[in-house]
Amino acid sequence: MKLTTNYLGLELKSPFVVGASPLGDDPDMAKRLEDCGASALVMHSLFEEQLTSESAALTALTESIEESYAEALSYFPESAEYALGPEDYLDHISRLKKRVSIPVIASLNGRTPGGWIGHAKLMEEAGADAIELNIYDVPTDQEESGAELEARVMEVISGVRGKVKIPFAVKLSPFYSSLPNLAKNIHLAGANGLVLFNRFYQPDLDIEDLNVEPKLFLSTSSELLLRLRWMAILHGKSPLSLALSGGVHKVHDAVKGVMAGADVLQIVSLILRHGPQSLETLIKDFTAWMQEHDYKDVAEMRGCLSHRNSPDPGAFERANYLRVLQLWKV
Ligand SMILES: Cc1cc2nc3c(=O)[nH]c(=O)nc-3n(C[C@H](O)[C@H](O)[C@H](O)COP(=O)(O)O)c2cc1C
Repeated sequence: MKLTTNYLGLELKSPFVVGASPLGDDPDMAKRLEDCGASALVMHSLFEEQLTSESAALTALTESIEESYAEALSYFPESAEYALGPEDYLDHISRLKKRVSIPVIASLNGRTPGGWIGHAKLMEEAGADAIELNIYDVPTDQEESGAELEARVMEVISGVRGKVKIPFAVKLSPFYSSLPNLAKNIHLAGANGLVLFNRFYQPDLDIEDLNVEPKLFLSTSSELLLRLRWMAILHGKSPLSLALSGGVHKVHDAVKGVMAGADVLQIVSLILRHGPQSLETLIKDFTAWMQEHDYKDVAEMRGCLSHRNSPDPGAFERANYLRVLQLWKV
């Protein structure tokens, strides 16, 4: 039984990767996750705001910083509140590389082209095997068109490509007008993979205190369906590696992710909720499922239910929407 998979050109022992989260903050935890079968580990993100706030502070000393920018900065955590500062982050890459033998993927999180992108090079020099570039943007400006926003995304991606030789994946949100076209352009801009998807941490409204409350919930399997559809649609359309992130909790979730076309499955909430042992159990169950269903390797299973390969491609499209709505009986 072969669980091996290729992700971003890295040969991994299985498709089970620990996704970006605080799980990589402690080298002992990283080792424990490796022992439980993790085939790679994505570190939590280093944010554009962390990298630009240092230079912004310098600018503020020499010239008057724009009022609105200063206000915007105040919404972000103080530098002491980030788990690791930019320098510590690089040291932490080396610490993890010494402690585990699985690939360590550093994560850079931002939205605008700029000097902070240079940090990708430092991550490479610190020993990262790959980078995950998380482009997390919430458009609020009605003057900026989708095309302009996507052009900015491409500028960030080609900026990173220009800095590093190691592979990198782009972690996206699902809210783009044409993901297949965006994926094609992301490949042309030099990225090696896609991670589907970022979860948006939706703020709730406090209707008594009239305030906005930031909320972070761990996922459930219900988040998988959105990923499955887009994974299936993107599978086989470009040479990009595909990682599924969001909603993998049970063996059937993992099987579906691979059948839709994922090269790897990134797991976070399951492990945060139930500990590293839950990853080991998931991998065991996945292996047993493959055996019971006579799959000799993951490659045989990958993408067998993608948009291209499934017996009913319309099920991923508008046709299914019509059918589902019309067949509902009261
Ligand atoms: C506590 C916590 C911290 C996270 N930190 C990051 C991060 O730093 N960078 C990032 O790209 N994603 C981060 N994520 C998102 C996860 O990598 C992942 O995309 C998301 O949790 C969906 O996967 P899951 O359903 O397995 O949890 C974080 C998630 C959680 C729960």
